[in-house]
Amino acid sequence: METKILYGKELSEKVVQDIKSRVEKLKASGRRVPGLAVILVGDDTASKIYVSKKHEMCEKIGFRSFSFNLPEESPFEKVKELIQSLNERDEVDGILLQLPLPPHLRERTNELLTLISPEKDVDGFHPYNVGLLTIGDDKGIKPCTPKGVLYLLDSYGIEVEGKDVTMVGASNIVGKPLAIMLINRMATVSVCHIKTRCVPSFTRKADIVISATGVPHLIKREMVKEGAVVIDVGISRLNGKIVGDVDFESLLGHASAVTPVPGGVGPLTVAMLMENTFECYVRREGLYGI
Ligand code: GUN
Repeated sequence: METKILYGKELSEKVVQDIKSRVEKLKASGRRVPGLAVILVGDDTASKIYVSKKHEMCEKIGFRSFSFNLPEESPFEKVKELIQSLNERDEVDGILLQLPLPPHLRERTNELLTLISPEKDVDGFHPYNVGLLTIGDDKGIKPCTPKGVLYLLDSYGIEVEGKDVTMVGASNIVGKPLAIMLINRMATVSVCHIKTRCVPSFTRKADIVISATGVPHLIKREMVKEGAVVIDVGISRLNGKIVGDVDFESLLGHASAVTPVPGGVGPLTVAMLMENTFECYVRREGLYGI
């Protein structure tokens, strides 16, 4: 079987170019441009790289970006005050609190995310937006990585309706919201997590396997049905190399389609963040249809 490689890079370029040209039109008409504020607490190496990618993309697209790097030991109240001040700032359309937070704040992650105004919640992590997503109401802001995965599947014409999908990983960032979005699209979804007794028994029956665990090369050929589609959302380091959750090489000639890491879902996450920021701007300014 020939395995199709599903690249996110070119798709994300198209999304970015489209937003960029809309921003140019805004500028030409003398309007302010969208603004994204990113809060990073501490100096986790991977988070610093992700955050700098977000700022670079803002620059490329023509958004204003506001960077807040708080020290590792910042107390809860400091982060809270910063979020509240950003909620009040007119030129800030989107607020992103980079996760994971340092250990002393981790237990209060949801409390901090809930302080972000739902209309500026570009990550779609506020309970209001999570609630809208769960009831299948399209008016909310949807999380970037799940949105990117569905964009990739749609762009390659991979139908999800009626399919058996196994989601490996049940985080609030990817696994849970993506499972809900797939149910809303009429897929039959199984969700595996750290306590699942026999993950292969779920992955082997799936038409589409999606993995978001951060465990390098967790998903191997023998865990996947022949002809299935495999989407790799994981990213980790193995022997100094960036790798995904999927043992990519072993799936070639076995799966019908697979995403590479890097160059698969990753670039679409940032593109969807830009889309969400633009969407928050449009709603705040009442500029529908631009
Ligand atoms: N850390 C890893 N992925 C994400 C994401 O999509 N949003 C935020 N805020 N933090 C993350």
